[in-house]
Amino acid sequence: MAKYVFPQQYKTVRSNFSEFRDFILAVVNKHRQNVDEDNIHDIIGVFLQEIELSMKEQSDRAEYMHLNSLTGTAINLFIGGAETTATTLRWALLYKIKYPKIQAKVQQEMDVVVGRMRMPQWADRLCLPYTEAVLLEIQRIATIAPLGFPHVASEDTKLAGYDIPKGTYVVSNIWAVHHDPDVWGEPDQFKPERFLDEDGKLRQREEFMPFSTGHRVCLGENLAKMEMFLFFTYILHSYILIKPDAKPISMEGISGGTFSPKPYEIVVKDDSFKVEKKFAQIF
Ligand code: HEM
Repeated sequence: MAKYVFPQQYKTVRSNFSEFRDFILAVVNKHRQNVDEDNIHDIIGVFLQEIELSMKEQSDRAEYMHLNSLTGTAINLFIGGAETTATTLRWALLYKIKYPKIQAKVQQEMDVVVGRMRMPQWADRLCLPYTEAVLLEIQRIATIAPLGFPHVASEDTKLAGYDIPKGTYVVSNIWAVHHDPDVWGEPDQFKPERFLDEDGKLRQREEFMPFSTGHRVCLGENLAKMEMFLFFTYILHSYILIKPDAKPISMEGISGGTFSPKPYEIVVKDDSFKVEKKFAQIF
């Protein structure tokens, strides 16, 4: 279908994809040439071992364990893992320059909990509820994956009063849940406090589902949470981010593989104020 509606874009995507597949195949081949059974340290190594084992045992798994599924899995992890986290962080920096007071509050919390003598660690999140709330609010308001992947109902079922016959395509509308005014009040307002209770402790919201929901929820959820927390806190621990003078900020997003911000510029200031201002382009 896409081939006929967007022929040029389809061609570009196909050619990029084939280049990407060649790259992954080269990595896989390198692993095959340097097999060291006592030192298997990544998913490609484990997968290759499983392919060999299931072929030897002539097990049912052989149907799934072959080179094509290995390259497919590696491509999925690469695409799913790189673009998503990076896009969330781009939104995070943009919201920080838009709301300098919120940025300062995150930095104050880190100064008290982490201090200036070391960098933040994953375990610190338990004592950084405001910082965590800001990260959750960024994921809610920006919703970089507005729709979940399409799934098919495996049997006749009912959902919220609707009949869903077996075989129906079902796509979760995460954007609609994250911007429902009945749930969030003013969904277009950036308010980290939504994720805090009266005592300032982190509050779980069941309507918050950036990684989708159900059995096929995002496979990389835990990794993504860790990466986002560490990158976000490291940057704000080390630098103050400022909007460049005379440059308007656009909070408009661009729809694509993910919902991403438009390219923008920020001024990055060393926290100690001793280093000259640096300019960074985020795209
Ligand atoms: C901020 C970061 C991320 C967000 C917001 C995100 C979001 C999502 C969403 C909405 C889905 C669709 C779930 C559904 O079927 O309804 C998904 C699936 C998936 N994600 Fe992520 N993701 C993120 C990071 C990652 C990372 C870091 C990885 C891997 C390293 C990853 C790997 C995957 C995979 C493999 C699936 C397919 C799971 C399946 O079909 O069983 N994602 N993700």
